[in-house]
Amino acid sequence: MKKEKILVSAALPYANGKIHLGHLAGAYLPADIFVRYHRLKGTDILFVCGSDEHGAPITISADKEGVTPRVIIDRYHGENKTAFEKFGMSFDIYSRTSYAVHYKTAQDFFSEFHKEGLLKTKSSLQFYDEKVKMFLPDRYVEGTCPKCGNESARSDECENCGSLYEPSELKSPVSKISGEKPILKETTHWFFPLDKYENRLKEYIAVQNEKTGWKDNVLQYCKGWFHDGLTDRAVTRDLDWGVPVPLADAKGKSIYVWFEAVLGYISAAKKLFEERGTPDLWKSYWQDENTRYIAFIGKDNVVFHCIIFPAMLMAWNDSNKEKYVLPENVPANEFLNFEGKKFSKSKNWGIDVIDFVSMFSSDSLRYSLGANLPELRDTDFYWKEFQARNNNELADILGNFINRTMTFVFKHFEGKVPSLYELQERDSEMLNLLEAVPVKVGELIERYKIKDSVLEMMNLARTANKYFNDSEPWKTVKANTDQCATTLNICLQTIYALAEIFSPVIPFTSEKIFSLLNAKPVSWDSCGKFNLEEGHQLNAPEILFQKIEDETIQKLVDGVGKSVEEHAKPAEPLLTFDEFKKVKLIVVKILEAKPVPKSDKLLQLKVSLGDSTRQIIAGIAKSYSPDELIGKNVLIAGNLQPAKLMGLESQGMILAVDSAAGKVSVIEIDQSIAPGTTAK
Ligand code: MF3
Ligand code: ZN
Repeated sequence: MKKEKILVSAALPYANGKIHLGHLAGAYLPADIFVRYHRLKGTDILFVCGSDEHGAPITISADKEGVTPRVIIDRYHGENKTAFEKFGMSFDIYSRTSYAVHYKTAQDFFSEFHKEGLLKTKSSLQFYDEKVKMFLPDRYVEGTCPKCGNESARSDECENCGSLYEPSELKSPVSKISGEKPILKETTHWFFPLDKYENRLKEYIAVQNEKTGWKDNVLQYCKGWFHDGLTDRAVTRDLDWGVPVPLADAKGKSIYVWFEAVLGYISAAKKLFEERGTPDLWKSYWQDENTRYIAFIGKDNVVFHCIIFPAMLMAWNDSNKEKYVLPENVPANEFLNFEGKKFSKSKNWGIDVIDFVSMFSSDSLRYSLGANLPELRDTDFYWKEFQARNNNELADILGNFINRTMTFVFKHFEGKVPSLYELQERDSEMLNLLEAVPVKVGELIERYKIKDSVLEMMNLARTANKYFNDSEPWKTVKANTDQCATTLNICLQTIYALAEIFSPVIPFTSEKIFSLLNAKPVSWDSCGKFNLEEGHQLNAPEILFQKIEDETIQKLVDGVGKSVEEHAKPAEPLLTFDEFKKVKLIVVKILEAKPVPKSDKLLQLKVSLGDSTRQIIAGIAKSYSPDELIGKNVLIAGNLQPAKLMGLESQGMILAVDSAAGKVSVIEIDQSIAPGTTAK
């Protein structure tokens, strides 16, 4: 039989933020379980992912921090790659859309479409910020919605009333970059004729759905898009952070981020095989009609993967001999919420992967997310539920079964696999189950019912505990040693099967269990058979899952409450730049200093502003002797209303900071700066 060949992609996360549990449950964990299962099945499978590094989300993050986009993408690419590794994602490559091979891939697609005359150009009026000399992407302009009056509407759509309009209709637009009023300026863009593919897309989705069963939520999203009708889509932007449009008359323009990011799945495969020294092998996945291609994503990405990307591939395939495979299925999940609310970076709501796995094991997280995947509807992550899954299921069911079996075998059978004698009915039933469960679990995974597959795995461990109890080996060990040996032999075969069927979900623990068994996994289809020979030596048992204390969880739950409070607390009012500018900071030289009589805190200073002098009364006597101060250049707030201290007028305030042990330290200015200079 020819080996099945599968290509799997998981949505490329933007490299402008950290991976949190919502991402994992939406796309990454289901994809990884699917892939790990298929590897054990012996499927020839390729698993690609990587960072999505272009577009306005990245430049906005960069602007906020005042750094270049490169700084942002390098940081988050590195962090997210590590987070995924710690979580046990088994990508064959975690690529980047900033790689040269990606630029070339995206530009080749664009040029091909252009050459075929598919792309139309259209001019339109877009907002332009004259101060920073750039066209403003949608998210960089805010104004008043022409329909409902919402004051924080985007340039061409209002999130409040959902209406779409032309940028010229937006009232009182403001550039988020400079704060100035942007002008409308004509610009030209290239458009991809999505409408041309509408019928073929409908047909494609219907056929694939017929063949492999698409999820209802995904079909519904697509239906919505078809209902509204497909139209031309602009595939270029006036943005310099992106893949440059490969045409002479397109200076300063980039390919629209979604139009190139999806091609990241292709460039990732190219990169991988380039690194392996077999640069053409990517074609054996992407351009072999026998490849089954599955794209795992979250629900917000459906239109790009079910409509735009397939249309792009159709367009390419129409004019090329080497044809790409289209997604056979796009199993998009709904969202995972955190303790009842949407994950939100800006509201500091949720937890990211790195923080999570620094407290708890990745496998505990993988299992608890896996048992609660938002496959049909949104679900929630709750700390208490996480604790329960870990303590009551992983530790008390799976861990307990393995531990009690192995402890028993070490106590009574020298840690060797006991022999199998005559089978009772109960024994045969257990053995039948061992053969049946991997088949059932496999079927569920293949139909993208990953959550059910995880629950099914734990059910096997539940039944195994019951089998152990019902067999009462602690009695038969004295009364009927053959029967006792048989029970324990079957229990060990069961541990083997559990180690393997659980391995897509809890790969780190599975590996540990195999090392306790002193054995290696076989192919998935054989894992429910007799895989441990009689007399085979085992390694001593170890506790596999640590229980999580109530106290630990309570702290986290309380922390969640606190994060809400913090949020409810009004932020410190911010000053406008104009308000800040009102404070005049002036460099002065201290000419004279003497104690203020009857005060142990105050010093009376005479300072020079170059062309004039002032008297300042400063509360720094406990930190400085008068002599130490003379000759220093310091900063004063120079336009405060004069104040009277101990009967003396102070014409300004010296800037100082608290230093150690109640002392203050004046802010000194270099001697080369002339008194009277103002700070800005
Ligand atoms: N970066 C997008 C997101 O996080 C997903 C891109 S998927 C790709 O929503 F296919 F376009 F790469
Ligand atoms: Zn509105």
